[in-house]
Amino acid sequence: MNIVLKNDTPDASSGTDTIEAFEQLYDPATGGWYMPEWMDRPFDASQVEEWRATRPLWYSPVEREVGQFYRALTAMLRPRTVLETGTNAGYSAACIARGLADAGGTGRLVTVDLRDTPHIFRGTALEKLIRFVNAHSLYVGTDTLLQAAGDATQFDMLVLDADHRYGSLVGEINRFAPLLPLGGIMVLHDTMVYDGLGLVVRDLVASGAFEVVNLPTPRTHGNPRGRRPGITVARKKLVVPPGFLVANPALLEVETNLPGRTSDDPPLI
Ligand SMILES: C[S@@+](CC[C@H](N)C(=O)[O-])C[C@H]1O[C@@H](n2cnc3c(N)ncnc32)[C@H](O)[C@@H]1O
Repeated sequence: MNIVLKNDTPDASSGTDTIEAFEQLYDPATGGWYMPEWMDRPFDASQVEEWRATRPLWYSPVEREVGQFYRALTAMLRPRTVLETGTNAGYSAACIARGLADAGGTGRLVTVDLRDTPHIFRGTALEKLIRFVNAHSLYVGTDTLLQAAGDATQFDMLVLDADHRYGSLVGEINRFAPLLPLGGIMVLHDTMVYDGLGLVVRDLVASGAFEVVNLPTPRTHGNPRGRRPGITVARKKLVVPPGFLVANPALLEVETNLPGRTSDDPPLI
């Protein structure tokens, strides 16, 4: 049975209610979430009050504003297939799937994570639009991912938010960017706060294969002087082969800061 979701009409079975309940765990002042680390138990709306009162802030899900942007971007672009790396608790996946539902509910999201957790989209109508693949993003076969998307031949949109080391994101882009059609959109989270990811964006710009824009996002981690996570939105403009980005071997493990820099330094990009 096809899912019929009416825009702007919250429905107990649509997943919108779950997203809205989960968003009550968000702290706009810091950009954190009052929730258990690694989502070690299922979420439902009845836990909001207790989790807000007892859980320390956790910063793994994207900021609420970013989740809402993902929904709007997905609804606007209307991709048939989306690949996400870094599912975590499933907040960003739920937002992307909600955008697919807004666009008619025929698209599919494949989302990959090393960890299997009780994702917030489980048991909602959004689950039918999502295929979770419990795997390592650098080792899972691209054929497996395309098959999970319904025997697709490409991914129209990529959202990469898994391992935040330079070498890992270079590896993901080298594997998945060739699967994007020309004009396809790739979104990267945390590129302004992690030097390792900022370095990748520099390489991406230097490749000339993508148009790239970097946007600040609101998370402060409670440090008003600190860098904000930021997102990078990249639009493919040249055909690229697997391995088109050549990583600097000396920097593969760079994550939060390049040697000699601190989190109070401005973003690399
Ligand atoms: C920052 S969280 C993702 C947050 C999620 N996108 C959201 O907004 O709700 C990063 C996730 O990536 C996963 N991860 C890290 N390295 C990975 C890899 N190489 N392959 C797949 N998942 C990975 C972690 O288990 C973690 O759940």
